Amino acid sequence: MLIAPSLLSCDFSRFGDEIKRMDEAGADYMHLDVMDGHFVPNITFGAPVMKYVRKFSDKVFDVHLMISEPLRYIDDFCDAGADIITFHIESDSDPAETIEKIKSRNVKAGLVIKPKTPAESVFEYLDKVDMVLVMTVEPGFGGQSFMADMLPKVEALKAEIKRRHLDVIIEADGGIGAGNIADCARAGVDVAVAGTAVFKAENPKEAISQLKQLAM
Ligand code: DX5
Ligand code: ZN
Repeated sequence: MLIAPSLLSCDFSRFGDEIKRMDEAGADYMHLDVMDGHFVPNITFGAPVMKYVRKFSDKVFDVHLMISEPLRYIDDFCDAGADIITFHIESDSDPAETIEKIKSRNVKAGLVIKPKTPAESVFEYLDKVDMVLVMTVEPGFGGQSFMADMLPKVEALKAEIKRRHLDVIIEADGGIGAGNIADCARAGVDVAVAGTAVFKAENPKEAISQLKQLAM
């Protein structure tokens, strides 16, 4: 299991150092939550801020766009150094066009589904994406409780990816920690996002290795 600490739970007055700290703690991906106050009720940061912190780690920058019009901002996030960009199928941008735009910049593309959106809604795009992100909380805030009833969606996606012999990884995001990461792994999650579980731990390095251990 790969672990992607969500920087949403970091100390933003030291954003760069926090990224460095996660890098040294063994994070596989840096999960960056971009919120516009419109698609979700919270506002975080945009591409200019990300550009400044990019230099603090060479790890994969996994950018989760919770914004109404992702297509308008793809170039900005690619220029800022994104390695993977995921956007919501519930957003206003055309999924196929947005995926194509991301891939034209040689960046990996992924679709995200909110808790009420069925797994099947992304099936028609599975041959075009590198990742599907299954939300295990309503997007907008860190520190919420994990929704175990999202795991059947992970299983359905995994089965469909296997059936079609596709090369798509599954990420899960929201409320993931020591108490549920084994269930995530069993369902087929390849990358687990963890905000609170890593940042509120006394020792993030131990927290990350414990999560990996539990997922084996
Ligand atoms: C929620 C974000 C998540 C969140 C994860 O909208 O997409 O990445 O910050 O944080 P925890 O692990 O605390 O739920
Ligand atoms: Zn996220």
